[in-house]
Amino acid sequence: MCKSTLFKFSALSLFLLIGMAGNAAALDGAALYKSKTCWSCHGKDAQTPIMPVYPKLAGQNADYAYNQMQDIKSGVRANGQSAAMKGVMGLVSDEEMRAIADWLSTQ
Ligand code: HEC
Repeated sequence: MCKSTLFKFSALSLFLLIGMAGNAAALDGAALYKSKTCWSCHGKDAQTPIMPVYPKLAGQNADYAYNQMQDIKSGVRANGQSAAMKGVMGLVSDEEMRAIADWLSTQ
């Protein structure tokens, strides 16, 4: 590979990398919280759940919330009422969980 081809190749990979990072950042946690129906159990403001035993999520630590979502999805966490939520998590990707968790922590 000659030097200029190599340069073009690295420039392209850098461009792709920035493009992908941009996409991940563009995921809107607030919008996902609505579109993935989280609000229907946890409340529109994430602090008025439909059942007293359902958790309030607003202000929760982002990493903690993300890990709980992962565990409920995978079945590692199957205590309490977790089964109620497991179904919907099949429709939520890792990136989406991250975006929702980050948003929840700011509420
Ligand atoms: C069908 C009702 C339902 C839906 C829909 C639902 N959840 Fe849950 N979620 C629950 C219940 C019930 C629990 C508590 C489980 C338990 O008792 O341990 C829970 C727990 C959680 C927890 C852990 C809270 C903690 O303090 O440990 C997080 C985070 C969470 N949900 C986020 C979400 C997100 C984000 C969505 C949308 C993608 C969602 N939930 C959709 C019912 C639901």
